[in-house]
Amino acid sequence: MKALVKTSEAIGFEYRDVDVPKIGPKDVLVKIMGTTICGSDIHVYHSSPNIMKMCQLPIVVGHETCGDVVEVGECVTSLKKGDLVSPEPHIFCGECYYCQNNAALNCLNMGLLGHTIGGAFASYMAVPAHVCWKHPAGTSYELGAIHEPVGVGVHSVMSGPINGKSVAVFGCGPIGMFAIGASRVFGATKMFGIEVAPKRVEMARKLFPDATIINPKEQDPVKTIKDATDGLGVDVSIELSGHPEATRMCFDVLKREGRVSLVGVPPGPMEFNFHANIILKEATVRGVFGREIWQTWWQLRAMLDTGRFDPLPIITHRFPLAEFEQAFKMAESGEAGKVLLIP
Ligand SMILES: NC(=O)c1ccc[n+]([C@@H]2O[C@H](COP(=O)([O-])OP(=O)(O)OC[C@H]3O[C@@H](n4cnc5c(N)ncnc54)[C@H](O)[C@@H]3O)[C@@H](O)[C@H]2O)c1
Ligand SMILES: [Zn+2]
Ligand SMILES: [Zn+2]
Repeated sequence: MKALVKTSEAIGFEYRDVDVPKIGPKDVLVKIMGTTICGSDIHVYHSSPNIMKMCQLPIVVGHETCGDVVEVGECVTSLKKGDLVSPEPHIFCGECYYCQNNAALNCLNMGLLGHTIGGAFASYMAVPAHVCWKHPAGTSYELGAIHEPVGVGVHSVMSGPINGKSVAVFGCGPIGMFAIGASRVFGATKMFGIEVAPKRVEMARKLFPDATIINPKEQDPVKTIKDATDGLGVDVSIELSGHPEATRMCFDVLKREGRVSLVGVPPGPMEFNFHANIILKEATVRGVFGREIWQTWWQLRAMLDTGRFDPLPIITHRFPLAEFEQAFKMAESGEAGKVLLIP
């Protein structure tokens, strides 16, 4: 089969023939129907040092995916041929301290699909059955493929109280937009999105007429948000840009005793005033990494069932796997939402 493989520290991927992976007794073989590009795939493409430390080369990359089960290991009872699944790419062991304490997202033996375990920019993928989410019949492959990043948006919103709260989401990339949609469904009363890329500002304004989308190049986010909240600020700030300036602004627009959920990955250490922003404000700061495994997948399912937010329009571009170079350029351009590769 053809696959995108990271073989060395050199920038880029190789599109080449590899064997269809063999499954173990607890695995399933999935025929991949589509995989979207994640920010972390872009970092692997460019061989960013931090992410390369997490990769075991050579590795088939890609993890935001969906497909049909075509082969089932002899010990698997939870899935059968023909089931439509997406993997939770944080492959938890189920046996360590955290897994035994209802915190599998912190698993001490975590495998990472597309980084340490062969991934999904390929025709087939072998994964342990216990990390597969089975979609209800009728789910489209594309919706299945974006479950994983939508889950990050859902987890960021649900990492503290949101019902009846005002919320500001910094960065309206795909995950920021998923977070605004999840905020709507889970009961936020006032929503703000802050984004600097004009195409994404436009997309967010179209998708979320019930939110105020602010371009900092046109309006001051702090003044706009304070003016709209009786000078108090928002109850919840969610950082989804990774930009240090936006990270600081999350606190500038925060009401006293508010919650900041930090999700975006900053380029490195940054300067920050703890006294003014956290201590004096009695702020709650939450780090958010991936999903609270199945709890988030069930919340996501509940969100979709309401019909009040459809994340599909956030996939804006589709390419055959062979045209991955163009696809990655588009994903990096700030002109696109999610970009899907089809094997
Ligand atoms: N913690 C986790 O588990 C996890 C998981 C996935 C992604 N992430 C991170 O979350 C962030 C969002 O993911 P994404 O895929 O949507 O990324 P993305 O890069 O597509 O989106 C980030 C957006 O932020 C905007 N932005 C940049 N500077 C800004 C500023 N000063 N103010 C407002 N907006 C600004 C960019 O224009 C872009 O649209 C990234 O930093 C990504 O690395 C974290
Ligand atoms: Zn991802
Ligand atoms: Zn574990």
